[in-house]
Amino acid sequence: MNPRYWPDPETFNPGRFTPDQVAGRPRYAYIPFGLGPRSCEGASLAMVEAELVLAILLRRFRFQPVSGHDVVPVERFVLWAADGIRMHLTPRPATRFGHF
Ligand code: HEM
Repeated sequence: MNPRYWPDPETFNPGRFTPDQVAGRPRYAYIPFGLGPRSCEGASLAMVEAELVLAILLRRFRFQPVSGHDVVPVERFVLWAADGIRMHLTPRPATRFGHF
């Protein structure tokens, strides 16, 4: 959240993670899994799981935020949403290959 490395840190901006943007930041400006001998044992697994889950869900559904529901970030060691992140899901039509 340090604005020196993350301008406008409260804004959701996935563009922060393009290869160019990443290359322009010091390596340790982003440490979601900690550092050193006690860093997260599951970091690689977590990244693969996240990509798989997102790939499956985004292929099957469109996600739209529920209007009137604010997402309020709370810090609980890692960042959470105080009252969840409410979304409307609309099924996407299957392709000729099915959903997978
Ligand atoms: C997005 C998902 C995850 C995040 C953001 C995350 C983040 C973290 C962080 C910040 C730490 C503390 C590192 C430190 O003290 O410097 C940690 C520790 C740990 N994480 Fe994760 N983690 C994730 C998923 C997982 C998964 C999937 C596993 C196991 C399958 C896992 C296993 C562990 C273990 C065993 C430790 C303790 C390591 C130690 O104390 O030696 N984590 N994690």
